[in-house]
Amino acid sequence: MTKKIIIANWKMNKSFDDVEPWLFDFKNNIKNNSNISDIVLCPPAILLDYIDELLLSEELDILQEKGKNIDDLSEDELEKLTSGLRVLNLGGQDCAANEEGAFTGDISAKMLKDAGCKYVIIGHSERRQYHSEDNSLINSKSLTALNQGLKPIICIGESLQLRQEGKYLDFIKEQIHHSIPKDIDIKDLIIAYEPIWSIGTGKIPSISDIAEVVDSIYNDISQNEEFSRVKNIRILYGGSVNLDNSAEILAINNISGLLVGGASLKGDIFAKISTSEIVSGNQKSFA
Ligand code: PGA
Repeated sequence: MTKKIIIANWKMNKSFDDVEPWLFDFKNNIKNNSNISDIVLCPPAILLDYIDELLLSEELDILQEKGKNIDDLSEDELEKLTSGLRVLNLGGQDCAANEEGAFTGDISAKMLKDAGCKYVIIGHSERRQYHSEDNSLINSKSLTALNQGLKPIICIGESLQLRQEGKYLDFIKEQIHHSIPKDIDIKDLIIAYEPIWSIGTGKIPSISDIAEVVDSIYNDISQNEEFSRVKNIRILYGGSVNLDNSAEILAINNISGLLVGGASLKGDIFAKISTSEIVSGNQKSFA
């Protein structure tokens, strides 16, 4: 079965002192069924390496408590054992389209990988709006992330005006066709549907409105020859997700997870959202 994926997007919030209390609250509220989902934390980039080290040192302690002599293990063995213990994966909030070079202020996909990331959010509507990112740039960034072995979480979603004018499905189709790299092998394509008017506003579309868009995204990708090398697709919903609506959204057919902003800033709430009642049976595989 395709695993759900629940992502915390801290955006430009929190600093070093906030990390340990958040992790403490998260761990104390995560249930045993957490391995049913991939859980991902996307903090500001400057915190990534610090969080990775904290998680690693806890994992080493657990291995030692289990009687493993970590000094005798090769780097590969150690990596395998520690990653098997990891509940919280790390992701970046953005990466550069270029691999490296004179791009002041940018962070490369490789840097994210080196700091412990497996994922990276690309094309969030705040990047599209405040940094003028367009579909073609998002496509290049996604390709760079894939080339570095990161899983891009590609964000799409309509404005309130497009929703009201009834043009949202065509707009989203356009975003899909231009933002997702074509004719390449993608093992795990992750798309986050985030209606812009729902982000940070407390307003969410009805369950049937979310289902309509998610089905349309799913059909657009699965029926397009140019995406025939996509093996698996996970479509997430994002926008004002909280503890009261998470289980209902996760139960929508073809929804494979959530992208959580404001409600992820509290570790206990995010842990509870991550282990919301999981409804199985939404398997999607193009293989
Ligand atoms: P929100 O943000 O949960 O605060 O609405 C979601 C997002 O922007 O990813």
